[in-house]
Amino acid sequence: MNRQEIRDGLSHNEKRLLLSLSEMSACSPADLIAAGRFELEVEVMGAASWLSSKGLAKIEENISRSFVLTDADIVVQGLPERRALTAIGDGTMDLAELAERLPGGEDKIAIGWLKRKGLADISKGGELKTISLTDAGKRMLTGKMSDEALLERMAAGPVAEGDADPLVIKDLKGRQGMIEEKIRTDRSVSLTDEGIAIIAMGIELKEEAAQLTVEMLQSGKWRDTEFRKYDVQTFAPAVAPAKKHPLSRLADEIRNIFVQMGFTEIDEEYVQPAFWNMDVLFTPQDHPARDLQDTFYLSSPETIRIDDDELVKKVKEIHEIGGGTGSSGWGGEWSREKAEQALLRTHTTVNTIKHISRHPEPPVKVFSLSRIFRNESIDSTHLPEFTQIEGIILDEKGDFDMLVSLVKGFYGRMGFDKVRIRPAYFPYTEPSLEVEVFFNGRWMELGGAGIFRPEVVAPFGVKHPVLAWGFGFERLAMLKWNIKDIRDLYVSDIDLLKKNTIF
Ligand code: PHE
Repeated sequence: MNRQEIRDGLSHNEKRLLLSLSEMSACSPADLIAAGRFELEVEVMGAASWLSSKGLAKIEENISRSFVLTDADIVVQGLPERRALTAIGDGTMDLAELAERLPGGEDKIAIGWLKRKGLADISKGGELKTISLTDAGKRMLTGKMSDEALLERMAAGPVAEGDADPLVIKDLKGRQGMIEEKIRTDRSVSLTDEGIAIIAMGIELKEEAAQLTVEMLQSGKWRDTEFRKYDVQTFAPAVAPAKKHPLSRLADEIRNIFVQMGFTEIDEEYVQPAFWNMDVLFTPQDHPARDLQDTFYLSSPETIRIDDDELVKKVKEIHEIGGGTGSSGWGGEWSREKAEQALLRTHTTVNTIKHISRHPEPPVKVFSLSRIFRNESIDSTHLPEFTQIEGIILDEKGDFDMLVSLVKGFYGRMGFDKVRIRPAYFPYTEPSLEVEVFFNGRWMELGGAGIFRPEVVAPFGVKHPVLAWGFGFERLAMLKWNIKDIRDLYVSDIDLLKKNTIF
């Protein structure tokens, strides 16, 4: 930027300050206010720092320290060691008596300082401990200790750092409630050569609008208003406004997609009996996913009673012999105790099946976006707590094509246009599929889907197809933002969150 542009970009206050400085030379904000040139220190310093960033003025800061008494009483009362000194006087005193004269533990403080200053000695005669003054201590009966002298000066007003013995200051600062440090910053502003050169070009003080207002637009006044020039290249500090965590924003985006597609959000408790998490979903009781290694079982509560005996009976029959669904079941004996074990839900399919149990009639369109738990070791692709995007459609015309187009439609809206499905297996769906998206030259698995089996829906009297899916939320976030380590999603590094603009 050339001089002319810099001059044209000066604000009213900057111009006022330049002109004032050319008349008054180096001066402090207080001087400028006293001279009636400005009203507030912040006005002066605001303009000064802009001028300084443009190289037109220089701000000098002089920091000075001084010390004041925290409590003026200390001078009236005297230091504990002074009171002890007076009490002991020329003679010898039992420590017990000193403790009576200086109650509240002050005797200990006094003895500590007397010894440290070499003013008293303690001697031990059998059980009895006595204290007496040293020669220096006796002299001090009429003298003044250096810290006392300094405290007295402070009682009269602040003592500048340079006017006091640093060792005495250090001791007093180390004692509680005695003195305080006051820091004062004096600033002065002066012109640089560049500032003088700009003034020499001529500076016109005229009112300029810094902002275009609604009123100016409505009245048409903007036509003959002089606007201040903006310098879009000037350095400006970055502002980090409060914003939602990127994962919350992604969750909002997903919720929006489902709501726009006519879905309603549902959720259930994290703690569930195995019955709803597994048995109702026709997962056999010896299924590996039910192992301790995969599922977090709870010790408190250890079990959750299933009250609905009729439902329990139906589920038992389905597991053992198919229960009239045309299935032959898993065979063997189904255990109610196993089904009543309490666990942290391992998928949100709990939410959808519970919803179906209460709403078996079409149309049903619900989704959930919520936390699940699996007993996994933490590594770059696994966390023991993560999130699923789950949903179902119960519709008279529901079929496999509808499910596939829903899955592809969702990922399409999330920005993945290459989506493919592969056959898969889940105990509760038939047919079952796996969804994969093409990303960074690879097909990545993002979730499963299928149509609930008769064994799952029969106990609730559902007569129409239930299309169901469960997608990984964190995986999706990792793909979207190209994050390699799942843990990075949950490290709330505030600087990273502030700076990162891709989120
Ligand atoms: N519950 C399955 C999982 O956790 C996903 C799924 C949901 C599959 C619904 C089919 C139907 O991976």
